[in-house]
Amino acid sequence: MEQLASTSVVPDACDFTVFGGTGELALRKLLPALYLRDLEGQLPDDTRIIGVSRSDFDDAAYRTEVRAALHQHIEASDLYDGAVDRLLARLHHVTLDIESPQGWHVLHGLLKDRSRPDDAARVFYLAVDPSLFGPICEQLEAIGAVDERARVVLEKPIGHDLASARLINDVVGKVFAESQIFRIDHYLGKESVQNLLVTRFANTFLEPLWNSHWVDHVQITVAESLGVADRGASYDESGALRDMVQNHLLQLLCLVAMEPPTYIGRETVRDEKLKVLQALKPMTPELVDRDTVRGRYTEGLIDGVAVPSYSSDLGATGSSTETFVALRAEVQNWRWSGVPFYLRTGKRMDRRASEIVIVFKRPAKAMFPHAEGSTEPNRLHISVQPEEGMRLHMTAKEPGPGGIRLRPVSLNLSYATTFDQRCPDAYERLLMDVIKGNPTLFMRRDEVEAAWRWVEPILTRWAASPNRPKRYPAGTSGPTAAATLLDRDGRSWQESDS
Ligand code: BG6
Repeated sequence: MEQLASTSVVPDACDFTVFGGTGELALRKLLPALYLRDLEGQLPDDTRIIGVSRSDFDDAAYRTEVRAALHQHIEASDLYDGAVDRLLARLHHVTLDIESPQGWHVLHGLLKDRSRPDDAARVFYLAVDPSLFGPICEQLEAIGAVDERARVVLEKPIGHDLASARLINDVVGKVFAESQIFRIDHYLGKESVQNLLVTRFANTFLEPLWNSHWVDHVQITVAESLGVADRGASYDESGALRDMVQNHLLQLLCLVAMEPPTYIGRETVRDEKLKVLQALKPMTPELVDRDTVRGRYTEGLIDGVAVPSYSSDLGATGSSTETFVALRAEVQNWRWSGVPFYLRTGKRMDRRASEIVIVFKRPAKAMFPHAEGSTEPNRLHISVQPEEGMRLHMTAKEPGPGGIRLRPVSLNLSYATTFDQRCPDAYERLLMDVIKGNPTLFMRRDEVEAAWRWVEPILTRWAASPNRPKRYPAGTSGPTAAATLLDRDGRSWQESDS
């Protein structure tokens, strides 16, 4: 059986090469994550980290750059000079323009270093534009860097539609076996997302309720208060459906809806997630018109601060890219038939919150029709961020004599108060899984393609539609049409977990 969590296991040494080694992802997420794992003693002494970029850095200049990034992105309470120096000593930099032949021999020389153990794993993390995935893989093969020790990590986006995703998968698949390809979706590394699996499959009381007999509907929200900031141009080519729904939100849906696998293993979990994606009711043009809403933020106020519109952030008008999506999906299988899954994500919303709400059906009979107070349906509210935790909303009798007064109450599991330890960043977990060669929390080719297959008709219909995304002021919960989507079904979004 595969361990999902194995913070205490120290893997063998490896060479961890990051293409895009001076890029934002490397400096903000990957190197801080490696530092924090190193701090926990999880990187053996002879582990090396090789940053590859076009920057004209030698090792010393790269170390200076990374030192500044660690100080910027790691909490002061986790920064120790000795540990920073230890991580920096592992760093090397190779200057290389991927599309030109120069520089590859330097990387080759480093990787071939005779002082390395012969079985040191080689990780190639491609934190670069997907158009470079193919050329990098081909070059790695040409310099003889790809053997059974090698693993390649692909950052999203894996394509912008099904055909382009297949192309990427084909070209990478010519060089690496599927078992060596780690397609990262950082949502799968989040603590509370993994806890969803544990909640479902390490407890008994939820399972009998986890189906269309007892669940009225499911809501999945990933709301961000940030805008597109300085990545406007690349965001404008994707939009919220490609950027968030095709991957993060569908992965969350899969974990909620999947059947229990025979055991938690590298293929079994992914097999079950794939079945969910395959069971999604296909989106016809009529369904797209009826069951999807796309929006775009205009200027507004967030926490009392005026923020500009998407067009201003982008520095251009005329784009029809959406920054918000709400949609209604259905999983057409025995367990979920008839249960709507409402998905919603947007930039510049009124709060930063990722949450999953399972709304249960009302009791078959109202047993306290004359009681004061109101009854709400039971809800299991799983908060992925900013605070990790879970609340089960119930109805209780308010203490007191005479009559019955009902009051909504909640059972509360807060990670912060229950566990006296830091929740690691998603990348910490996922990078260690790559080093250990455990792909359970990574997307398999068939999953990525199934997700695109479901999303593509929405893209096609939107592209053909004369309608533009509906406007919503920054700092709100999205366009009113998103509320109407649920209102129509006699339901409403759970806006906060109070
Ligand atoms: C990324 C998207 O995958 O996830 C970003 O490209 C988004 O647009 C980010 O902001 C959200 O991640 P998190 O972990 O902050 O919720």
